[in-house]
Formats: sequence, structure tokens, C-alpha cells
Amino acid sequence: MTLSDLEGQAAEIVRRYEYPKAAMLPLLWLVQQSQGYVGPEAEAWVGRRLGVSISHVREVVSFYNMFHTQPTGRRELRVCTSLPCVLRGATDLLDRIKEKLKIGPGETTPGREVTLTEVECLCACEMGDRRQDHPGRAHGTRETGIDP
Ligand code: FES
Repeated sequence: MTLSDLEGQAAEIVRRYEYPKAAMLPLLWLVQQSQGYVGPEAEAWVGRRLGVSISHVREVVSFYNMFHTQPTGRRELRVCTSLPCVLRGATDLLDRIKEKLKIGPGETTPGREVTLTEVECLCACEMGDRRQDHPGRAHGTRETGIDP
């Protein structure tokens, strides 16, 4: 699906908001769900629709770790490396995952099965260390504690 195929849905989303700029997150999410990531072309497309600069769109995309700027695997494995989880073993966990998958954070396994992502707090600090197994474009997220 191309960006121009999304014109109708984008217009519908923008119409829901009093100020077009307020539709930025839903539009970015629409793009990511259809393309799998939000690349430079999509950032420009969203900016044109909302009347904002590409740099503003890029700031939003880079702020939220739910957005990807390049193609990812079918599944995404997110590991929290914020201090509470680091104190409970997140660094060792990440090292083991890297060793097992033979990739580092931001990389995808051959065959595009899994992308490993290092993230900030997943809002489950009391149960650290945490990882989030996110099935790509599909809906739903599963969070699990990791065996030490
Ligand atoms: S610090 Fe890791 S889930 Fe909050």
C-alpha cells in the first residue's frame, strides 16, 4: 500500500480534529500500520497534510519509541534498559538476547523475523526486568518478565 492509497483515511482522520496538527499521532500510526515504518517520504507526506515542517514530524517520530524509521521484523522484542530494570538484570538479559539472536539493538534477524529494540521504561518497573514482545503490525502486545 502506498502513501497515496492512504489519502482517504488520512483526510477522514484529520477531519476529526479542530486543529490539523492534533492529528499527527493518528496519521503517523496509520502510516506505520500500512508501511511498517515511518520513513522520510512518509514524514514529508504527514507534514504536508498537517501544515507542519518535516523537522517537526521527525521530532515526534523520534520521541515515541513506538514509531520505526526503517523496516522492522515481523515481531519486535523490546527490552527496557532504564535504571530500575538495569538494577534487576536488564543488561545481562539484553546481552543474552543479543547472543542468542546474533543481533544488537536496532537490528533485525536475517529473514526479518525479529527486531531487537532497547527502550525506556515500559511502565512495569515493579516487575523488572521487562521485555515486550510486540508482533509487528498486528494488534496486541505481550509483556513478560524474563527468567534470570
Ligand atoms: S524501568 Fe523498566 S519497566 Fe520501568
